[in-house]
Amino acid sequence: MRVFEIRDDWGLDNLRPGQREVPRAGRGQVLLKMRRAALNARDLIVPERGYGRATGELPLIPLSDGVGEVVEVGADVTRVALGDRVCPTFFQNWVAGSPSAAAFASALGGPLDGVMAEYVCLSEEGVVKVPEYLDDAEAASLPCAALTAWSAVSGEARLRPGDHVLLQGTGGVALFALQFAKLHGATVTVLSSSDEKLARVREMGADHLVNYREHADWARATRALVAERGGYDAIVELGGAQTLGQSLRAIRPGGTIAMIGVLSGLDLSLSLGPIVTRQIRLQGVTVGHRDDFEAMLRAMAAHRVRPLVGSSFPFEGLKEAMAHFAQADRFGKTVIEF
Ligand SMILES: NC(=O)c1ccc[n+]([C@@H]2O[C@H](COP(=O)([O-])OP(=O)(O)OC[C@H]3O[C@@H](n4cnc5c(N)ncnc54)[C@H](OP(=O)(O)O)[C@@H]3O)[C@@H](O)[C@H]2O)c1
Repeated sequence: MRVFEIRDDWGLDNLRPGQREVPRAGRGQVLLKMRRAALNARDLIVPERGYGRATGELPLIPLSDGVGEVVEVGADVTRVALGDRVCPTFFQNWVAGSPSAAAFASALGGPLDGVMAEYVCLSEEGVVKVPEYLDDAEAASLPCAALTAWSAVSGEARLRPGDHVLLQGTGGVALFALQFAKLHGATVTVLSSSDEKLARVREMGADHLVNYREHADWARATRALVAERGGYDAIVELGGAQTLGQSLRAIRPGGTIAMIGVLSGLDLSLSLGPIVTRQIRLQGVTVGHRDDFEAMLRAMAAHRVRPLVGSSFPFEGLKEAMAHFAQADRFGKTVIEF
């Protein structure tokens, strides 16, 4: 079968097409014929061994997200059947509850082989059935970015109708967070570097729009929008080094900052005082578990929420898809067609 794999050494230049044997489904396993895959920010970090030893060993098949059809089931499989359309879970060993080191060591696309293969063999515990109303490209977009946004908005931030939420940027996680925050009845402020993208998120239901290039001090600009509440109830923190300081100023006392991304860097120096004196909750979020994936799919199906797909590339075009993903002007998920 055709695969893409990082071979010989780390680095994007070593990501190449290759051939592997089609795996067989053993006891408790299912074989998926992949239909679509989708890109996330981490898929550009993995080839550079960006997560250190946790990135895994070579050769490595990249990408965590996709959708496939069950074409073989091993003995004792009960959760899914032949012909089901399923998504792999990002963490293969995290079904519910608190994460463990073993759960975090079970991410697809590094350290475990990912979905850039025509056939993928997984434990039946590591897949979820996809609702019929979603097409393949939409379904492929869900395992990482959507579940991360759901874990932040519905899980850690415990949003209630009328709450105010601030989202950073218009990338994959942020667009899902917008859709889910609206589902929870929240009022949503979106930051973006682009007025064009802000116009598009307004069409998706965003209530307040702030261009963070024009308003470098966006904490001041946004606090005025939520002055009555003393700040935001929740902030989806995706920027990291350049944004966390401002998030600490924009959050209300007792509010939750869901720490998800570090798009502008990992290291910063800031005063810890407000976290203590304003009882701010800083909560790391790492994708999420299978139970929440299934809860998210139920909520999406009930409200017919559709992921926003931007561009599609053929299987052989993985590297072009990655180059496209790296561009600042893209909008919506980048999908690979098998
Ligand atoms: N913890 C987890 O489980 C988890 C899961 C998924 C992703 N992540 C991380 O979350 C981050 C976002 O992932 P993604 O897949 O959504 O990435 P993405 O699609 O590449 O997001 C890119 C967008 O982020 C916005 N952005 C960049 N720098 C910004 C800044 N300084 N302030 C505000 N917005 C900024 C930009 O929006 P505009 O173009 O609108 O300006 C940019 O288009 C990455 O760091 C990723 O590694 C973490």
